[in-house]
Amino acid sequence: MNITLNGQTCWAKPGETVLDVARREGMNIPTLCHLSAFSPTGSCRICTVEVEHCGTLVPACAYPISEGMVVRTNSPRVRRARKTIIELLVANHPPDCLFCVRSGSCELQKLTQEYGVRTHRYQGERRRARIDIASPAIERDPEKCILCGRCVRICHETQHVGAIDFVHRGFRSAVAPALERSLNTVPCVDCGQCVVNCPVGALTEKSSQKPVWEAINNPDLVVVAQVAPAVRVALAEEFGAEAGTVATGRTVAALRRIGFARVFDTNFGADLTIIEEATELLHRLTHGGSIPMLTSCSPGWVKFIEHLYPDLLGNLSSCKSPHEMEGALLKTYYANKIGVDPSRMFVVSVMPCTAKKYEAQRPELGGDYPDVDAVITTRELARMIRVAGIDFHKLPNEGFDDPMGESTGAGAIFGASGGVMEAALRTAHFYLTGNDMPSPSYAPIRGLEGVKQAEVRIGDTTLRVAAVSGLKNIKPMLDAIRDGNSPFHFIEVMACPGGCVNGGGQPLPATPEKLIKRTESIYQIDRESPRRNSHRNESVQKLYAEFLGEPGGHLSHELLHTHFVERDDF
Ligand code: FES
Repeated sequence: MNITLNGQTCWAKPGETVLDVARREGMNIPTLCHLSAFSPTGSCRICTVEVEHCGTLVPACAYPISEGMVVRTNSPRVRRARKTIIELLVANHPPDCLFCVRSGSCELQKLTQEYGVRTHRYQGERRRARIDIASPAIERDPEKCILCGRCVRICHETQHVGAIDFVHRGFRSAVAPALERSLNTVPCVDCGQCVVNCPVGALTEKSSQKPVWEAINNPDLVVVAQVAPAVRVALAEEFGAEAGTVATGRTVAALRRIGFARVFDTNFGADLTIIEEATELLHRLTHGGSIPMLTSCSPGWVKFIEHLYPDLLGNLSSCKSPHEMEGALLKTYYANKIGVDPSRMFVVSVMPCTAKKYEAQRPELGGDYPDVDAVITTRELARMIRVAGIDFHKLPNEGFDDPMGESTGAGAIFGASGGVMEAALRTAHFYLTGNDMPSPSYAPIRGLEGVKQAEVRIGDTTLRVAAVSGLKNIKPMLDAIRDGNSPFHFIEVMACPGGCVNGGGQPLPATPEKLIKRTESIYQIDRESPRRNSHRNESVQKLYAEFLGEPGGHLSHELLHTHFVERDDF
């Protein structure tokens, strides 16, 4: 089909919307409620355009093209309509930009700037509601909500959780959990995908910056940081760098200048996780155990299965997640090495994930002390770097501290969907054949697709594996396990679509193009690593020789494994 957009003839495919064609032609139309890859709702109307033959204003995101259509995306009438829509949204929005955590990355604020909204043109009663701060991971400020519904759709359609929905009608319309309860009293899994997709400051991570600064300023504490794999390929975006810029050395340098006594690499914990998880998988396969084994390093996913499929908890690997393993060792092995009482050690995890905040508070994860004392997201670390007056671009590249600073390419790829599986296959290959995989890269389980499956032949063993991201994608597999029809031996599950590169704590906005670049950088780190197999990590080998004993042994079970619980108390 041919249509005319702003006087320019453009080709279009049947079924496309005006927005699809305009974007392809490089014409910008603002959107708020629109989510690519979802069917349109047309609720905010900010994408209004003018169709000539009927003289009507229509929402570009929901209006299908037809042959010969003539559309104007930038007429005076269109601009007036959009400005009025913004003014009406602003009329019901708190004038909090000075204090709002999304100031500078708020889509509504950006539109008010672009369309020259300088006053509150429409004055009247504003919707009032209490802020919900009870969740350990996510805060919800209903007064800032513009009712675009993006969070609702992500929670229902991508995650199949449904913790929030529209409630009430007309002026009282709101997005809230059932019965307007707190987020921590409903089966929210704390994944933070609602935060990533909120255009304004209605949903944000619960900040842990204050307790971390207090710990750093407490002379009685030894405050150490650890950095997750996906943080180093995203943090630089917060300082204007291109998506996927690898900033490992500068991240370490920034943390030292903020005041952390030591900076360790969660990739070390990831390597350790692989040793324990591969051992657990092979033990289940040879001694009989619940198969398929499901990975357990994504806390949002773990909470999901605890809420919705508690009968399958036996399929979950008993391994703690990498940062929890590392925290447990920092407060035992490392504290003992440097002669510090574990009660004086304060462990801060820098994570791409909001659910890690909830995970760190789980009573099962820790003994006399929690394994991890505080979790800050990539975005929070960026704020701390700014507050400390550090010029991120001028930082030198510094290395992690020993002994938990050494890692392999296998640990690095935990940041991408399929990475845990690939790393586990590399080590399973070594355990089953005595040799490393001839080519460690395993393409069938790479990429941003929600479901990837493969059949892997290792020696005499054939393993059927899958890597799943986005919680809706795991439901059919869980149902098949329940029915006894699952063909798989091992399934990796990540709550966030695309894995940790797209975690709820990562820089905003997380566009598909940015996710691709972050993912490519994760694999680049792997390719450039001198060692690409977790079992080749010499510091991990030394840890077992000096302290833990055998993989899957008694002390490993005490420190590195946990149990999961049916969760009806939320
Ligand atoms: Fe088109 Fe909201 S973006 S109606």
